[in-house]
Amino acid sequence: MGKLFNRRKSDRDKNSPTELIQLVETRAASETDLDLMIPDMPEDVAEAPVTHDDTDDHSRTSHVTATPDKAPPVSPQEARIYTFVGSSGGVGTTTLCTQIAYDLAMQCKANRGLGRHPQDPEVCLIDLNFENGTCAHHLDLMPSLSLDDLTQNSGRIDTAFTSALVSTHVSGISLLATPNIPGAMQKVNPHAVMAILDAASKLYKYVIVDMPRQELPWSLAVMGGSDFVGLVSELTIPSLHLTRTHIQHAQSVLGDRTTIEPVISKYERRSFRNALRLSDAEAALERNIWATICQDADTAREAINCGEPVGAVRKDSRYAKDARKLVEKLVALHANNDVENSGSIAA
Ligand SMILES: Nc1ncnc2c1ncn2[C@@H]1O[C@H](COP(=O)(O)OP(=O)(O)OP(=O)(O)O)[C@@H](O)[C@H]1O
Ligand SMILES: [Mg+2]
Repeated sequence: MGKLFNRRKSDRDKNSPTELIQLVETRAASETDLDLMIPDMPEDVAEAPVTHDDTDDHSRTSHVTATPDKAPPVSPQEARIYTFVGSSGGVGTTTLCTQIAYDLAMQCKANRGLGRHPQDPEVCLIDLNFENGTCAHHLDLMPSLSLDDLTQNSGRIDTAFTSALVSTHVSGISLLATPNIPGAMQKVNPHAVMAILDAASKLYKYVIVDMPRQELPWSLAVMGGSDFVGLVSELTIPSLHLTRTHIQHAQSVLGDRTTIEPVISKYERRSFRNALRLSDAEAALERNIWATICQDADTAREAINCGEPVGAVRKDSRYAKDARKLVEKLVALHANNDVENSGSIAA
């Protein structure tokens, strides 16, 4: 059985704060065997350890070994993994993921000196949409992951391998993304995807995942391994219907232990004729809306066309302010845990 999205055990079992466990153990209470969420792939040969011989056929990464001369810095603190999925297309998920990563990277920069070496990157943005991803465009970066990296044996993927495959934005965001490859979703090895996520969770303080909305073999495992899953929706009937379906489906498998919350994007505060209100959405979803991001097409358009996060082009825009509120709420979700685990004040 391949590796699932390994997480540090500390927030689930305070007795073993540094131990890594598999998601399947943390979710053992569920009747559903989460280990089955990723199909067994015969070619994923028993998580074989990396050897120099093994890596010889990987031209782009053959310089990366499991025991490099200089190991990449591993985050001293448990990664917080925030995953966002659009309930329907074009709702603003990627714009939001990029801005959240940027805001966190700015916070980390401002807080430097509280632990990590100034050059150690602390925020990773992962684009799991290998066919239509746009995170790289939003940051004007060349994606460094390839389909080969994602089709190989997951046993070869470790922190050294993963850290060699990031593209770095001037803000300090590390991006893990592929160029868009038609048919890639069917070809990737789910275990390799999970192994990259697993490595990123060891390397960084914050991992932001932009997840495609179609259900893939790794989707529920990624959600289950996340500290927070935001289902991004618009205030329209179809989008809210899809949000409700997605939340119900995810919770039926994952139970209540993964925080899955609705986020309304492109939210108009002014009320228009025939427009839905937030209270309508809350009634339809039978839960509170966790956060809203205002409708701000000019700012969003300017950001994508400049290849920059919103906060870099319009720091004081309503969009950037809403996203900052969302980030503050995300960080506050786990602030108590972080203080207990590290003895320091969370960023
Ligand atoms: N808050 C917003 N207000 C107005 N327009 C927005 C907002 N957020 C994003 N947009 C615009 O909506 C379009 C889609 O944005 P984005 O690519 O982020 O959505 P997405 O949900 O990731 O799309 P996809 O389903 O294709 O992945 C873009 O033109 C973007 O500029
Ligand atoms: Mg997108």
